[in-house]
Amino acid sequence: MLTTAMARVSPMSELPDGVERRQFDGTERLATRGEPVYGEPTDGDWRAWNPTRSKLGAMLELGMEIGLGGGETVLYLGAASGTTVSHVADFAGPTYAVEFAARPARDLLEAAESRPRLFPLLKDARKPETYAHIVESDVDVIVQDVATRGQARVALENAQFLDDDGRLLLAVKARSEDVTRDPGEVFDDVRAELEAGYEILESRRLEDYHTDHLGIVARPK
Ligand SMILES: C[S@@+](CC[C@H](N)C(=O)[O-])C[C@H]1O[C@@H](n2cnc3c(N)ncnc32)[C@H](O)[C@@H]1O
Repeated sequence: MLTTAMARVSPMSELPDGVERRQFDGTERLATRGEPVYGEPTDGDWRAWNPTRSKLGAMLELGMEIGLGGGETVLYLGAASGTTVSHVADFAGPTYAVEFAARPARDLLEAAESRPRLFPLLKDARKPETYAHIVESDVDVIVQDVATRGQARVALENAQFLDDDGRLLLAVKARSEDVTRDPGEVFDDVRAELEAGYEILESRRLEDYHTDHLGIVARPK
Protein backbone atom coordinates (compact mmCIF):
# COMPACT_ATOMS: atom_id res chain seq x y z
CA MET A 1 0.00 0.00 0.00
CA LEU A 2 1.29 3.47 -0.80
CA THR A 3 -0.96 6.04 0.77
CA THR A 4 1.24 9.00 -0.21
CA ALA A 5 0.86 8.15 -3.88
CA MET A 6 -2.89 7.84 -3.51
CA ALA A 7 -2.95 11.14 -1.66
CA ARG A 8 -1.63 12.91 -4.72
CA VAL A 9 -4.38 11.59 -6.97
CA SER A 10 -4.05 13.68 -10.08
CA PRO A 11 -6.43 16.26 -11.40
CA MET A 12 -7.69 15.44 -14.85
CA SER A 13 -4.80 16.51 -17.03
CA GLU A 14 -2.04 15.30 -14.73
CA LEU A 15 -0.17 12.12 -15.46
CA PRO A 16 1.36 9.68 -12.97
CA ASP A 17 5.03 10.26 -12.14
CA GLY A 18 6.94 8.28 -14.74
CA VAL A 19 4.42 8.92 -17.52
CA GLU A 20 5.06 11.84 -19.85
CA ARG A 21 3.83 13.27 -23.10
CA ARG A 22 6.78 13.22 -25.49
CA GLN A 23 7.41 13.72 -29.18
CA PHE A 24 7.85 10.66 -31.37
CA ASP A 25 8.43 11.50 -35.05
CA GLY A 26 6.77 14.88 -34.57
CA THR A 27 3.71 13.51 -32.78
CA GLU A 28 3.09 13.95 -29.06
CA ARG A 29 2.35 10.64 -27.36
CA LEU A 30 2.12 9.16 -23.90
CA ALA A 31 5.35 7.44 -22.93
CA THR A 32 7.02 5.52 -20.11
CA ARG A 33 10.63 4.60 -19.55
CA GLY A 34 11.55 0.95 -20.12
CA GLU A 35 12.54 -1.73 -22.61
CA PRO A 36 10.22 -1.85 -25.66
CA VAL A 37 7.74 -4.74 -25.70
CA TYR A 38 5.46 -4.61 -28.76
CA GLY A 39 7.43 -2.80 -31.44
CA GLU A 40 6.43 0.64 -30.17
CA PRO A 41 8.55 3.67 -31.17
CA THR A 42 11.28 4.65 -28.74
CA ASP A 43 13.30 7.76 -28.02
CA GLY A 44 16.29 7.03 -25.80
CA ASP A 45 14.88 5.31 -22.68
CA TRP A 46 11.32 6.36 -23.52
CA ARG A 47 8.77 4.16 -25.26
CA ALA A 48 5.49 5.35 -26.73
CA TRP A 49 2.32 4.04 -25.07
CA ASN A 50 -0.20 3.24 -27.80
CA PRO A 51 -3.79 3.92 -26.61
CA THR A 52 -5.24 1.90 -29.48
CA ARG A 53 -3.41 -1.15 -28.10
CA SER A 54 -4.17 -0.39 -24.44
CA LYS A 55 -7.47 0.37 -22.70
CA LEU A 56 -5.66 1.92 -19.75
CA GLY A 57 -3.70 4.08 -22.19
CA ALA A 58 -7.02 5.12 -23.75
CA MET A 59 -8.45 5.98 -20.31
CA LEU A 60 -5.42 8.19 -19.70
CA GLU A 61 -5.69 9.84 -23.11
CA LEU A 62 -9.37 10.55 -22.47
CA GLY A 63 -8.48 12.31 -19.22
CA MET A 64 -10.20 9.85 -16.89
CA GLU A 65 -9.12 10.27 -13.27
CA ILE A 66 -7.42 6.93 -12.83
CA GLY A 67 -5.98 7.74 -9.41
CA LEU A 68 -2.45 6.59 -10.24
CA GLY A 69 0.32 8.88 -9.07
CA GLY A 70 3.23 6.50 -9.64
CA GLY A 71 4.74 3.93 -7.27
CA GLU A 72 1.48 2.17 -6.32
CA THR A 73 1.07 -1.56 -5.78
CA VAL A 74 -0.99 -2.92 -8.67
CA LEU A 75 -2.90 -6.13 -9.36
CA TYR A 76 -3.39 -6.41 -13.12
CA LEU A 77 -5.97 -8.94 -14.33
CA GLY A 78 -5.78 -10.08 -17.97
CA ALA A 79 -2.16 -9.16 -18.66
CA ALA A 80 -1.96 -11.02 -22.02
CA SER A 81 1.52 -10.62 -23.52
CA GLY A 82 2.30 -7.55 -21.42
CA THR A 83 1.50 -4.63 -23.73
CA THR A 84 -0.18 -2.50 -21.05
CA VAL A 85 1.14 -4.06 -17.87
CA SER A 86 4.71 -3.41 -19.03
CA HIS A 87 3.94 0.32 -19.15
CA VAL A 88 2.32 0.08 -15.72
CA ALA A 89 5.35 -1.67 -14.27
CA ASP A 90 7.55 1.08 -15.74
CA PHE A 91 6.06 3.63 -13.32
CA ALA A 92 4.22 1.67 -10.59
CA GLY A 93 5.52 -0.27 -7.61
CA PRO A 94 5.07 -4.06 -7.30
CA THR A 95 2.84 -5.11 -10.19
CA TYR A 96 1.19 -8.56 -10.09
CA ALA A 97 0.15 -9.59 -13.59
CA VAL A 98 -2.47 -12.36 -13.84
CA GLU A 99 -2.95 -14.13 -17.18
CA PHE A 100 -4.39 -17.62 -17.67
CA ALA A 101 -3.42 -18.35 -21.29
CA ALA A 102 0.00 -19.98 -21.60
CA ARG A 103 0.88 -18.56 -25.04
CA PRO A 104 0.71 -14.81 -24.19
CA ALA A 105 2.12 -15.55 -20.74
CA ARG A 106 5.38 -16.61 -22.41
CA ASP A 107 5.76 -13.11 -23.89
CA LEU A 108 4.74 -11.64 -20.56
CA LEU A 109 7.64 -13.46 -18.91
CA GLU A 110 9.95 -11.88 -21.46
CA ALA A 111 8.57 -8.38 -20.73
CA ALA A 112 9.21 -9.05 -17.02
CA GLU A 113 12.88 -9.90 -17.55
CA SER A 114 13.94 -6.23 -17.56
CA ARG A 115 11.27 -5.20 -15.01
CA PRO A 116 12.11 -6.29 -11.48
CA ARG A 117 8.77 -5.02 -10.11
CA LEU A 118 6.65 -7.04 -12.57
CA PHE A 119 5.47 -10.43 -11.28
CA PRO A 120 3.69 -12.59 -13.90
CA LEU A 121 1.19 -15.12 -12.52
CA LEU A 122 -0.18 -17.86 -14.77
CA LYS A 123 -3.54 -17.93 -12.99
CA ASP A 124 -7.29 -17.69 -13.62
CA ALA A 125 -8.67 -14.33 -12.46
CA ARG A 126 -11.97 -16.07 -11.61
CA LYS A 127 -10.12 -18.05 -8.94
CA PRO A 128 -8.44 -15.44 -6.71
CA GLU A 129 -7.91 -18.06 -4.01
CA THR A 130 -5.19 -19.57 -6.25
CA TYR A 131 -3.02 -16.43 -5.98
CA ALA A 132 -4.15 -15.00 -2.64
CA HIS A 133 -0.99 -16.38 -1.02
CA ILE A 134 1.22 -14.47 -3.49
CA VAL A 135 -0.47 -11.11 -3.98
CA GLU A 136 -0.06 -8.79 -1.02
CA SER A 137 -3.27 -7.45 0.50
CA ASP A 138 -4.28 -3.79 0.32
CA VAL A 139 -3.12 -3.21 -3.24
CA ASP A 140 -3.65 0.40 -4.33
CA VAL A 141 -5.05 -0.34 -7.77
CA ILE A 142 -6.66 -3.22 -9.63
CA VAL A 143 -6.48 -2.89 -13.39
CA GLN A 144 -8.81 -5.34 -15.12
CA ASP A 145 -8.97 -6.14 -18.82
CA VAL A 146 -10.11 -9.75 -19.05
CA ALA A 147 -11.91 -10.78 -22.20
CA THR A 148 -14.34 -13.11 -20.48
CA ARG A 149 -18.02 -13.37 -19.63
CA GLY A 150 -18.74 -12.20 -16.08
CA GLN A 151 -16.36 -9.22 -15.96
CA ALA A 152 -18.22 -7.60 -13.03
CA ARG A 153 -18.03 -10.85 -11.07
CA VAL A 154 -14.26 -11.04 -11.62
CA ALA A 155 -13.91 -7.48 -10.27
CA LEU A 156 -16.09 -8.29 -7.25
CA GLU A 157 -14.19 -11.49 -6.45
CA ASN A 158 -10.86 -9.65 -6.57
CA ALA A 159 -12.03 -6.71 -4.43
CA GLN A 160 -10.64 -8.63 -1.44
CA PHE A 161 -7.13 -7.53 -2.50
CA LEU A 162 -7.95 -3.83 -2.72
CA ASP A 163 -7.17 -1.21 -0.08
CA ASP A 164 -10.27 0.56 1.31
CA ASP A 165 -9.10 3.71 -0.46
CA GLY A 166 -7.93 1.87 -3.59
CA ARG A 167 -9.18 2.10 -7.16
CA LEU A 168 -10.54 -0.36 -9.67
CA LEU A 169 -9.71 0.58 -13.27
CA LEU A 170 -11.92 -1.66 -15.34
CA ALA A 171 -12.19 -2.03 -19.10
CA VAL A 172 -15.44 -3.78 -20.03
CA LYS A 173 -15.65 -5.48 -23.40
CA ALA A 174 -19.33 -5.71 -24.36
CA ARG A 175 -18.81 -8.53 -26.84
CA SER A 176 -17.24 -10.76 -24.21
CA GLU A 177 -20.51 -10.60 -22.25
CA ASP A 178 -22.89 -11.12 -25.17
CA VAL A 179 -22.12 -10.54 -28.86
CA THR A 180 -25.80 -10.23 -29.74
CA ARG A 181 -26.82 -7.51 -27.25
CA ASP A 182 -26.63 -3.77 -27.55
CA PRO A 183 -23.34 -2.71 -25.88
CA GLY A 184 -25.09 0.09 -23.98
CA GLU A 185 -27.41 -2.43 -22.32
CA VAL A 186 -24.48 -4.71 -21.49
CA PHE A 187 -22.64 -1.77 -19.88
CA ASP A 188 -25.74 -0.87 -17.80
CA ASP A 189 -25.90 -4.45 -16.49
CA VAL A 190 -22.18 -4.56 -15.69
CA ARG A 191 -22.39 -1.22 -13.85
CA ALA A 192 -25.41 -2.42 -11.85
CA GLU A 193 -23.71 -5.69 -10.88
CA LEU A 194 -20.51 -3.91 -9.94
CA GLU A 195 -22.40 -1.70 -7.49
CA ALA A 196 -22.76 -4.67 -5.14
CA GLY A 197 -19.16 -4.03 -4.08
CA TYR A 198 -17.94 -0.82 -5.67
CA GLU A 199 -18.89 2.82 -5.89
CA ILE A 200 -18.49 3.91 -9.51
CA LEU A 201 -16.66 7.24 -9.71
CA GLU A 202 -16.50 7.61 -13.48
CA SER A 203 -17.37 5.62 -16.56
CA ARG A 204 -16.76 6.46 -20.16
CA ARG A 205 -17.00 4.76 -23.54
CA LEU A 206 -13.53 4.18 -25.01
CA GLU A 207 -14.96 4.34 -28.55
CA ASP A 208 -12.26 6.70 -29.90
CA TYR A 209 -9.71 3.93 -29.33
CA HIS A 210 -11.59 0.66 -28.65
CA THR A 211 -14.94 -0.28 -30.18
CA ASP A 212 -17.67 -1.35 -27.74
CA HIS A 213 -15.55 -0.95 -24.62
CA LEU A 214 -16.38 0.97 -21.45
CA GLY A 215 -13.78 2.35 -19.03
CA ILE A 216 -14.80 2.44 -15.37
CA VAL A 217 -13.07 3.98 -12.35
CA ALA A 218 -14.47 2.70 -9.06
CA ARG A 219 -13.59 2.33 -5.41
CA PRO A 220 -14.60 -0.37 -2.96
CA LYS A 221 -17.73 0.27 -0.85
C1 LIG B 1 -7.91 -8.01 -24.20
S1 LIG B 1 -6.74 -9.13 -23.65
C2 LIG B 1 -5.78 -8.19 -22.50
C3 LIG B 1 -4.87 -7.17 -23.09
C4 LIG B 1 -3.95 -6.57 -22.06
N1 LIG B 1 -4.69 -6.14 -20.89
C5 LIG B 1 -3.15 -5.40 -22.59
O1 LIG B 1 -3.71 -4.30 -22.69
O2 LIG B 1 -1.98 -5.57 -22.85
C6 LIG B 1 -7.64 -10.11 -22.54
C7 LIG B 1 -6.82 -11.16 -21.85
O3 LIG B 1 -7.59 -11.68 -20.79
C8 LIG B 1 -7.20 -13.00 -20.64
N2 LIG B 1 -8.20 -13.67 -19.80
C9 LIG B 1 -9.49 -13.95 -20.12
N3 LIG B 1 -10.10 -14.57 -19.09
C10 LIG B 1 -9.17 -14.66 -18.11
C11 LIG B 1 -9.21 -15.21 -16.81
N4 LIG B 1 -10.31 -15.75 -16.31
N5 LIG B 1 -8.08 -15.16 -16.06
C12 LIG B 1 -6.94 -14.59 -16.56
N6 LIG B 1 -6.85 -14.07 -17.79
C13 LIG B 1 -7.96 -14.10 -18.56
C14 LIG B 1 -7.10 -13.53 -22.05
O4 LIG B 1 -6.32 -14.71 -22.13
C15 LIG B 1 -6.45 -12.34 -22.74
O5 LIG B 1 -5.05 -12.48 -22.78
